[in-house]
Amino acid sequence: MSHIEQIPPELTWRIRRQVLYPDQDFSKAILEDDDEGMHLGLFDKDQLISVVSLFIREGCMQFRKFATIRDFQNMGYGSQLLHYLIRIAEEQNCRMIWCNARKNALGFYTKFGFSETDKTYHKDGNDFVIMEKILK
Ligand SMILES: CC(C)(COP(=O)(O)OP(=O)(O)OC[C@H]1O[C@@H](n2cnc3c(N)ncnc32)[C@H](O)[C@@H]1OP(=O)(O)O)[C@@H](O)C(=O)NCCC(=O)NCCS
Repeated sequence: MSHIEQIPPELTWRIRRQVLYPDQDFSKAILEDDDEGMHLGLFDKDQLISVVSLFIREGCMQFRKFATIRDFQNMGYGSQLLHYLIRIAEEQNCRMIWCNARKNALGFYTKFGFSETDKTYHKDGNDFVIMEKILK
């Protein structure tokens, strides 16, 4: 049985590092403003499997550092977390959700109603597109 709960930022760092920055220094996994975010963890049988961090500013939610442990990807865990964060954004009356999406994750976010903007960039060897979902 899986469940989602709010976790302290420190608990996200190991999975962020393993999944998003495997070849880089551990410090890459830590955000300067981690203390301002809400961090969600999806657990299955008490194992932390997927994490995401939410930052709500001026009525918009940004989610960052979304990562599922490699062995558990493509099993629906990320979708559960994405559904959950969309519900939080709605409850918090956010007018928009956005993220800096890695190109490999575009199709995934599109399924949840996110659209590509024309803002793109390249960082640390990855191509990114800003994607957004308008809520109202
Ligand atoms: C992107 C990421 C967070 C998604 O998490 P996830 O747990 O793999 O998400 P899901 O399993 O719910 O969905 C991923 C894909 O599996 C598919 N899927 C979902 N449930 C499935 C199931 N039961 N069986 C097979 N496939 C399934 C989804 O449709 C989705 O396919 P798509 O990529 O074609 O849209 C994860 O793959 C990841 O950590 N990737 C590497 C890091 C990364 O790119 N992070 C995003 C930065 S923007």
